[in-house]
Amino acid sequence: MCGIVGVVGNKNTTDILLQGLEKLEYRGYDSAGIYVTSGVNRFKLIKAVGRISDLRAKIGIDISGSAGIGHTRWATHGKPTVDNAHPHLSQSGRFVLVHNGVIENFVALREKYLADVKLAGETDTEIAVNLIAKLVERDNLSTQEAFQKALSLISGSFAFALMDTTDMGTIYVAKRKSPLLIGLGEDYNMVCSDAMAMIRETNQFLEIHDDEMVILRKDELKILTITGAEVVRKPFTAELDLSDIGKGTFPFYMLKEINDQPTVIRTLLQKYTNGTGEMMIDEAILADILASDQLYVVAAGTSENAGWASKQTFEQLTGIPVSVHTASEFAYNFPILSKKPFFIYLTQSGETADLRQVLVETNRLGLNALTITNVPGSTLSREAAHTLLLHAGPEIAVASTKAYTAQVAMMLILAKAIGVKLSNPQAVTLDLVRELGIAATAIAAIVDMKEVIDDLTYQYTEDTRNCFYIGRGSDYHVAKEASLKMKEISYIQCEGFAAGELKHGTIALIEEGTPVIALISDLRLAPHTRGNLMEVYSRGANTLVIATEACAIDEDEIVIPNVHPLLTPLVTVIPTQLLAYYASLHRGLDVDKPRNLAKSVTVE
Ligand code: G6P
Repeated sequence: MCGIVGVVGNKNTTDILLQGLEKLEYRGYDSAGIYVTSGVNRFKLIKAVGRISDLRAKIGIDISGSAGIGHTRWATHGKPTVDNAHPHLSQSGRFVLVHNGVIENFVALREKYLADVKLAGETDTEIAVNLIAKLVERDNLSTQEAFQKALSLISGSFAFALMDTTDMGTIYVAKRKSPLLIGLGEDYNMVCSDAMAMIRETNQFLEIHDDEMVILRKDELKILTITGAEVVRKPFTAELDLSDIGKGTFPFYMLKEINDQPTVIRTLLQKYTNGTGEMMIDEAILADILASDQLYVVAAGTSENAGWASKQTFEQLTGIPVSVHTASEFAYNFPILSKKPFFIYLTQSGETADLRQVLVETNRLGLNALTITNVPGSTLSREAAHTLLLHAGPEIAVASTKAYTAQVAMMLILAKAIGVKLSNPQAVTLDLVRELGIAATAIAAIVDMKEVIDDLTYQYTEDTRNCFYIGRGSDYHVAKEASLKMKEISYIQCEGFAAGELKHGTIALIEEGTPVIALISDLRLAPHTRGNLMEVYSRGANTLVIATEACAIDEDEIVIPNVHPLLTPLVTVIPTQLLAYYASLHRGLDVDKPRNLAKSVTVE
């Protein structure tokens, strides 16, 4: 979703802004722009619809300056047009602003303060920049005072970076709910939506909390609360490795990240187990879970699918009931909670606004919670009592792959640790280090089958408008993830169903040639799923089977290695990631940056 970069005090400002915006591309966007200043009232403002490459093309010859702000916009209010792209100038031309988030009271603000102002576009951001200008020009406030006053008048979510064209040396920054971070350079400073976009310049960062503003200059910065009280905060060092952000020889990040998965599992084992095969999880986390009577896993998208794929295993290994919830629904419809609930926020980005809305409420209720995330220092990680990091390395492709497997593996490690504490016999006897090692090897073997899967993708999805995945038990949960992946990047309408449920309605959609892909990894359920597959085959479906060796028959198209029954969601998902990847590739689509989607969804 929208991304912000700003820099003050560096003569390579244009380059830093553009490189920063490129690093933020993965979040998803549909237009972009930069403002670069080289002196009082000497500036360039350039915006373009489309990719950063389109923006670069518009810039043409190099523009230079020593401060500026840039933005990638994921449209909320108003279509993706140049007028709606950020940065936005106030009508007077004095102030320039980039913004992430949604200003909820923009209509009221417009009516009350800006009835006489002509707006160029349709965004809520223009209301904010004109409001600040009005407070300076009409009420004679300083820029800082006007910014502070505007923040108190605005309701909703925001990350702002504001510049005053009469002062090239200051960026005014503020946030509420939307992510924003300060980067500290030598003799210059930066602001950005995430650390990855600044890591080329610095590994020293400073957090901004909600309802704080930062006055950023090249050699100083001041953090103030929205009410003006000064805040002292120490910087932190981010452990990101610049080389993690490249895609190496892979044509797309998604393929690299699919390939990364065996390593991701092995890294998790290194981080969370000791040499003797014991799980090493923070005792405070274990104590909180052991004291609870029900776990509430709150998540969205792929992470929710990872939650579902982990639920049954977690219950089997611990005996503690687990319920999985869609964050955006949970936030405003809290169910009756158990007596001792414990919340787990499962989120690759750690920024998803829907989850954060729930976390704010569970924090208010005084309930301890755990965030399982891939991003250290992310909002949900900072605000929950506990964090377990996935250590999967940056996931850049919008379609999540390695974060899913890392989440499922992390939940297994956590379940094993809890189960052992509870002397659960299944947990005690499970040699998880060995089994995860076998799963990592199996994933590598499946990735090696990519040419076969490429061919099958062509045969099954070339001309199709729709497609179905079916499965039972954990295969059903993987079927949902498989269909989400297919939809996200190939734009084929694809649904994942419980195999036994098709006949209760969905089978009406099966026509001659409709692709139906069955996942079969459970011997107990295999005959039933095969029966359901025959039902659709008899009605013209083009059927394809992904089965584990133990469940496979000669005719099955994709046969994958066996793993421990509790670990199958880690491996059955891999061919489906590759099917989605190749379906997208064959259609000539941008695999890593599908239309309309954002990696980090910071609005509700
Ligand atoms: C977005 C992404 C999905 C992701 C979902 C939840 O929609 O495009 O890939 O699964 O957000 O994100 P989270 O960061 O909370 O896992």
